[in-house]
Amino acid sequence: MSSYDTLWINARLATMTPGAVPYGAIADGALGAKDGAIAFVGERAELPDAPERLAARVVDAARRWITPGFVDPHTHLVFGGERVADFERRVAGQSYLAAASGGSGIAHTVATTRATNEETLYREAAQRLRAMIASGTTTVEIKSGYGLDVETELRMLRVARRLGRELGITVRTTYLGAHVVPPEYAGRRDDYLALVCGEMLPRVAREELADAVDVFCDTIAFSPAESARVLDAARRLGLAVKVHADQIADTGAAALAARYGALSADHLEHTGEAGIAALAASGTVAVLLPGAYYYLRETVKPPVEALRAHGVPIALATDCNPGTSPILTLPTVLNMACVLFGLTPEESVAGVTRHAARALGLDDRGELRTGMRCDLALWDIASPPELCYWLGTSRCAGVVIAGEPL
Ligand code: NIG
Ligand code: FE
Repeated sequence: MSSYDTLWINARLATMTPGAVPYGAIADGALGAKDGAIAFVGERAELPDAPERLAARVVDAARRWITPGFVDPHTHLVFGGERVADFERRVAGQSYLAAASGGSGIAHTVATTRATNEETLYREAAQRLRAMIASGTTTVEIKSGYGLDVETELRMLRVARRLGRELGITVRTTYLGAHVVPPEYAGRRDDYLALVCGEMLPRVAREELADAVDVFCDTIAFSPAESARVLDAARRLGLAVKVHADQIADTGAAALAARYGALSADHLEHTGEAGIAALAASGTVAVLLPGAYYYLRETVKPPVEALRAHGVPIALATDCNPGTSPILTLPTVLNMACVLFGLTPEESVAGVTRHAARALGLDDRGELRTGMRCDLALWDIASPPELCYWLGTSRCAGVVIAGEPL
């Protein structure tokens, strides 16, 4: 019996294991997979025998770079319709806040998603997800939050689960019933929160449709006190939590996320020193979303320097959604993180591998290390910073899921 099911040789490896070597790089590498996990990673010269004697299948990677499969830890991938009219108004100068208080903004997508049947939601999201995979993504988080009623929230989450089953990559689902107050509950915020905490959340948990619970804690959505009600309800059901925090103003959302031991606090453009210190103390990952910053023509950047100084792990995500970040590919986000936020290319790549996995509470991926899941992305590039360099093209030559080329 062979030691490995598959052995990649003639590969350059960006293991992303922290240490003295940038990107944890291995120049003439070999990587062996057994039963879906990484069983060997190192210099080819360290292999104990000839490749053909070690593995049932030997793949010549032709000097391509191999990274851990990319992890996208924040998306709103399932939705009906689009928001092109918002886009046109915004490039003409309208703000996100103005859209939020008119009939457009999130409320528009709630209406179009409610009006879209399950099959259509699935088909359109699957098309988007295929584009993500073609650019190196092998794990993706998908939120609900455009239903805001029992039936549509469950429909979105069922679609997300089905995407994982049928497209073969890992999908982590998040219930975001507390995205905004839906129009039919205008003036009855408490009643809506009672529906979220008392009915929707228990149902979502019972049907095992969500791996985590998110809340949009900001001026146009929920206050910290309201958000805490949702986080308490999630905690009672034993679900992990995360928070859309301080995108529009510092309302103390990052500190709230930290207080609840959230997996991640996301956006953070307006987070102040106290919030950052709290994230550092709780081990919560900062998920930055440069696509939303770019589309909204924001001017206040997330506090990257302070996050670094406090040692908060920084992850990156597409935030794929129809209103503020219609972006599918993580390499685009890598470029934006460097150009707009001043992350280094190495920090950026760690943000879609090691730190992104942690933002989802997954400790079995995000690095090329023995024992980890063998999710890989192969790249036609000459050096790892090139992952952050190109726009408008995918250098991804394929992905591997649990040891099998997809
Ligand atoms: O992450 N911030 C709130 N939610 C989304 C935007 C949703 C929308 O505008 O449709 C975000 O940017
Ligand atoms: Fe979001």
